[in-house]
Amino acid sequence: MTRMDPSKATTAKQLRPYTRPLIKNAWYVVGWAEEFGEEPFARRILNEPILFYRATSGEPVAVLDVCPHKLAPMRLGQRIGDDMQCGYHGLRFDKHGVCVHNPQGNGIIPPNAKLKSYPTLERHGAVWIWMGDPAKADAGLIPDFSHIDDPKRRSVKGGHHVNCNYMMMVENLMDLGHIIFLHSQTGGLENLVLGESKTGNDNGTITDQRLYHDIATPNLFADHMDVTRCDFWTDIRWNAPSAIRNHAGAAPCGHARGDRSTDQLGSHFLTPETHDTTHYFYAHSRNYALDDDAGDEIWRHWQRTALKAEDSMVAEAIQGVVPQAEELGVEMIVLSTDLSGIRVNRILEEMAQAEESDG
Ligand code: FES
Ligand SMILES: [Fe+2]
Repeated sequence: MTRMDPSKATTAKQLRPYTRPLIKNAWYVVGWAEEFGEEPFARRILNEPILFYRATSGEPVAVLDVCPHKLAPMRLGQRIGDDMQCGYHGLRFDKHGVCVHNPQGNGIIPPNAKLKSYPTLERHGAVWIWMGDPAKADAGLIPDFSHIDDPKRRSVKGGHHVNCNYMMMVENLMDLGHIIFLHSQTGGLENLVLGESKTGNDNGTITDQRLYHDIATPNLFADHMDVTRCDFWTDIRWNAPSAIRNHAGAAPCGHARGDRSTDQLGSHFLTPETHDTTHYFYAHSRNYALDDDAGDEIWRHWQRTALKAEDSMVAEAIQGVVPQAEELGVEMIVLSTDLSGIRVNRILEEMAQAEESDG
């Protein structure tokens, strides 16, 4: 029996969040509702090439983007009513992926002529897909993000592609201690001292709340507040596997989270494209300046700089290290502020193990 080098075993275990198999039995956001129209488009989700379009009745459709005849991508074909016709030999499939027409030879449709189809639904301004066992696709498992299309808020939606495993972005959001350094200039968040923090686990919903007292009003809220100093907070809520809400705001000192707050609800959805690449969809839904286009630009700027140029830049840099980390023998360390991330990883680890043992 070969004996394992214990130091290597530890490093491999530490890397598990970034190398763990993807979770299949879960809802993932695949795009904002506005993207889904008549025109089919392809997007890879959990390494499966999928074709999306919206049926004439309005519901989103998701079928495998691979024709079962000669494997031609279905995106090369054309939509005919609610059906998709393969561009190679013309087999036609309905919105459930069932082959309904064979224009070749004797016209017989082989019984196994179908495209895999995926449960999808539209909720909270986004389209969600279930990648695992369709029998387990319970719509009640989608967490509440109703603030995104709440008429009392105004949402700025966006998204970009990141070259990293989705967990690097999940961990980024679960430990917002990085804002003081990584976003200090973008957000005007220099020299903050954490005042209070609280973490929780409510039946698998992980929360991480942080409050900074009496700070210079951050750039994001300064235009809409009449105080130069304020209390500022970030309240994170995570639902498996990768749907995160960040209720962040500012208020006159002593009034945090109260009715004098200027706040926004950030929605962050990290959907694996492949094991090592991620679709990142986000929205910032504010409760002020509802008629102000300029207010949108403040959040667009935040999305371009903080989420893309800063957060995703670091995540991609970490991804670049992972293949070599074991060989380098780096022992990863844990800080007190990592507790929420540890809880998240524990839950995902259990989910991954359950799926691995289900085969
Ligand atoms: S490859 Fe699609 S019909 Fe032949
Ligand atoms: Fe960040």
